[in-house]
Amino acid sequence: MQNEQEILQKLKNSTKIIYKDRNDLHGTLLSLESRKIIKINQLQQTIYELTPEGNSVIINGTPEYNYITQQQLIKDKSTGFNNAMQLKWIKIEDNKIIKLQEIKEDINKNKLLNHKNEQKDEYLLKRKWIKPRKIVIYEIFKDENYGKEEEELIKDITVDILNLNLQNVKLKEYNWNSKGLVARGGAFHPLNVMKNEFKKIFLEMGFTEMNTRRFVESSFWNFDVLFQPQHHPSRDAHDTFFVENSKTLKIPHEILKKVKNMHENGGNGSEGHKYCWDENEAKKNILRTHTTAITARYLYEIANKIKQQTSNCEQFECGKYFSIDRVFRNETVDATHLAEFHQIEGMIIGRKLGIGHLMGMLETFFKKLGISKLKFKPAFNPYTEPSMEIFGYHDKLEKWIEIGNSGIFRPEMLEPLGLTEFTVIAWGLSLERPAMILYGIDNIRQLVGSSVSFESIRNSKMCVITETKNT
Ligand code: PHE
Repeated sequence: MQNEQEILQKLKNSTKIIYKDRNDLHGTLLSLESRKIIKINQLQQTIYELTPEGNSVIINGTPEYNYITQQQLIKDKSTGFNNAMQLKWIKIEDNKIIKLQEIKEDINKNKLLNHKNEQKDEYLLKRKWIKPRKIVIYEIFKDENYGKEEEELIKDITVDILNLNLQNVKLKEYNWNSKGLVARGGAFHPLNVMKNEFKKIFLEMGFTEMNTRRFVESSFWNFDVLFQPQHHPSRDAHDTFFVENSKTLKIPHEILKKVKNMHENGGNGSEGHKYCWDENEAKKNILRTHTTAITARYLYEIANKIKQQTSNCEQFECGKYFSIDRVFRNETVDATHLAEFHQIEGMIIGRKLGIGHLMGMLETFFKKLGISKLKFKPAFNPYTEPSMEIFGYHDKLEKWIEIGNSGIFRPEMLEPLGLTEFTVIAWGLSLERPAMILYGIDNIRQLVGSSVSFESIRNSKMCVITETKNT
């Protein structure tokens, strides 16, 4: 009400008033407009506002100015040094820093100080000192009921009004055609929708879900069981997150022994890796780098069950398992990579399974997902042989993209687990990658993390897969 009075008062002596960036007035303005008291013309403008970095430059000065005004100039890795080099304020000769220019004032900071919000300044944008924001400008004019608002006063029904004599009150006309606001419920995050879609496909194909509730895993189940030698680069702290001072002590002795032996001496036709396997290394805890660690644990359990339940394992035919859960890698974070992502994994244990079964399975699996053209490329995994990367043709992008990795588990992995008479085919892919492709997202932060907008979740039509299937 106070806003309303203020607006009308301002309009009294002018034909037009302007409000910039006043979202708080939006409701009041619309209400006045609906009563034909004012007319509104809405315009958009982009303004360029200081970023926290820009603010820091205003307070502390630019890194290059702070650098050049130091007593002693040294070559370091600072932004100040790099900027001063780029600006040709200094140069290096015989390993000494030589000033090329006398810098009297912080010119770049001055540029920022002189910047006006409405101006687009490429230089300041490039330095990330300002960033654009869209604002609304309301141009407001008088309408036919302006000035008559006193007697026209149209009111919403309130308790106060109901307590008055209703005949004296002129009520606002009701718009019986208005639908009112649609109540909004919750919405699924696109990754969840995607996850459920994959789950449905696996379940349709008769797979059983594996229990993956274990982010911290021992190196043993994550690497050693998978015949990954202890000096393999992916076991480095550069690629794997190690849990400080944490070890898994309970590893069944019998499998520990068998895995050690397989690494050191091989067996069953394999030469092994021929090095001294260190039990301590295997016990170190890490954040699992793939869900294949879970697959390995399941295979071990299956082997034990087969041993216990059937007097001879010939009765066991085949088992199909899948999992979808988070894995962690110590990667450099960029637009398409985070240090954690979801992995989808499928595994079939059976007899005499070969590459044909694997390819056929992958074709059926990806067809259900809407990807019908596949290509396979030989690859290497320490635990599968042969191994294949899977490429799918993306109809909209019109190109082949890598969508997964697959293979047949090596005997060196299966034998210590107790599965000599079986073959296991398996494949894995990330959940985020197909999601990014289907949504046309090029920065993973739009999909995962704190900068995902709620609006994008509400509006997301992730069920692209289902939609194309149904039509
Ligand atoms: N573990 C593999 C990865 O992290 C995926 C994979 C699973 C490959 C099963 C082959 C067999 O990429």
